[in-house]
Amino acid sequence: MSQTAIRINGPRSSVRNLKAFQEEIPVPTKHEVLIKVHSVSLNYRDIGVATSGYPFPVKDNVVPCSDAAGVVVGVGEGVKNLAKGDRVIGTFDPTNIFGQQMDWLNGQGGPVDGVLCEYITLPAIAAVKLPENSPQSFSEWSTLVCTGVTAWNALYALTPLKPGQIVLLQGTGGVSITGLILAKAAGATTIITSSSDKKLEFVKAKFGANYCVNYKTHPEWSKEVLRLTNGEGVDYVFENGGSGTIAESINSVKMGGNVSVIGFLSQAKEMPDVATLALSKGAVVRGITVGSTQLLQEVVRFVGRKGLRLPVEKEFGFSAEEAVKAFEYLQSGTHVGKVCIKVAE
Ligand SMILES: NC(=O)c1ccc[n+]([C@@H]2O[C@H](COP(=O)([O-])OP(=O)(O)OC[C@H]3O[C@@H](n4cnc5c(N)ncnc54)[C@H](OP(=O)(O)O)[C@@H]3O)[C@@H](O)[C@H]2O)c1
Repeated sequence: MSQTAIRINGPRSSVRNLKAFQEEIPVPTKHEVLIKVHSVSLNYRDIGVATSGYPFPVKDNVVPCSDAAGVVVGVGEGVKNLAKGDRVIGTFDPTNIFGQQMDWLNGQGGPVDGVLCEYITLPAIAAVKLPENSPQSFSEWSTLVCTGVTAWNALYALTPLKPGQIVLLQGTGGVSITGLILAKAAGATTIITSSSDKKLEFVKAKFGANYCVNYKTHPEWSKEVLRLTNGEGVDYVFENGGSGTIAESINSVKMGGNVSVIGFLSQAKEMPDVATLALSKGAVVRGITVGSTQLLQEVVRFVGRKGLRLPVEKEFGFSAEEAVKAFEYLQSGTHVGKVCIKVAE
C-alpha cells in the first residue's frame, strides 16, 4: 500500500520546491501507532525550513511540518494506551516526554521527517488522545502541537499565570492569537501588538483582546504598554521578534516579570544590552523550545475542558500545488492565527 508524502525536494531556497512522492505506508513497530493524518497545521518555522532560514539542522529532502491531527488506524502489539479509532495529535519531538524544554535535534519536519503526508507512525507514548465528541476540528487540534505547547510553556511551565495578571502578545500570528485565547480563558488581561490597525480591530472583535498597540505607528511601543498599565508594565511577554524587539519587550515588563523568548521575526542591526535591561527589571528572560509531551497533554486537557475554539483562519487542500499555496499564504503574513492543510476529511 502506498501513500502521498510531500517533501522539500532540491535546494531549500523556496517554498515552491515542495513536491509530492508516492511512498510505502510505514508499519508500526511494537510500541508505535500508525496514524491516518487528517490535518496539518503550519508554523513560521516551516517557511524557515523550506527557505534555509531555520537556525537549526535540517535533513535533506525532508518531509516538512510538525503538527498533525488524525486517527489511529494501526497499533503495535505492545501498545496499551491507544486503540484503532482514537483521535490523536502527535507531539513535536516524540523523544521528549516530560519537563519544560526539548532540544532542537528531534523536532518533526526539520532534522527528521515530519508529518505532511497521509500516514505517520509515532511511539504510542508521543501521541495524545483527544477528548471524545469535542467540537474542535482536526485542524483546530493540530494547532496545539507546536503553537499551543509554546504558548502553554510561556504561561505555565516556569511561573504559572494567575487570574488578573497582564499578558502582552506580539503580532497576530499563530503563537500570539493562541496565547491570547489561553490567557483570556485563564482570567488574564491581554495586550496585543500588530503592524496593522485593521488586524487589531479584527482581533479585538473576534478574540476579545483588551488593548491593542500598532508597533509600526508606535515604534517605541513599550511606552504605550506602560501607559496602558499605569506605568506598572505587564506580567508576561510573548517575545516573537527576537533581537529587533527584545529591548521593547523588557521595557514593557513589570519588575520581576517574565519575558518568553520565542521567535526570530525581526533582526536588529546591533543586539541590545539584554543583560543590563534584564537586571534593571529583575526580569526572567527565558528561551522557549516548544515543550514536552507532558505540556501537550496539559494544554489539550485545558482546551478540551474549557471548550476553547482554536484560531484556524484558512485551510488548504492536500497536494504539492496546494501546499505551495498554503506556505506562500503563511509567508505573506496576511493571516491572523493559524493556516492548515486538510489531508483527509
Ligand atoms: N521557540 C519556540 O519554541 C517557537 C515555537 C513556535 C513559534 N516560534 C517562533 O515564533 C515566531 C512566531 O511564530 P508564528 O508561528 O506565530 O508565526 P506567524 O503565524 O507566521 O506570525 C507572524 C506574525 O508576527 C508578526 N510580526 C512580524 N514581525 C514582527 C515584529 N517585528 N514585531 C512584532 N510582530 C511581528 C506579524 O503580525 P502582524 O501582521 O499583526 O504585525 C506576523 O503576521 C516565529 O519566529 C516562530 O519561528 C518559536
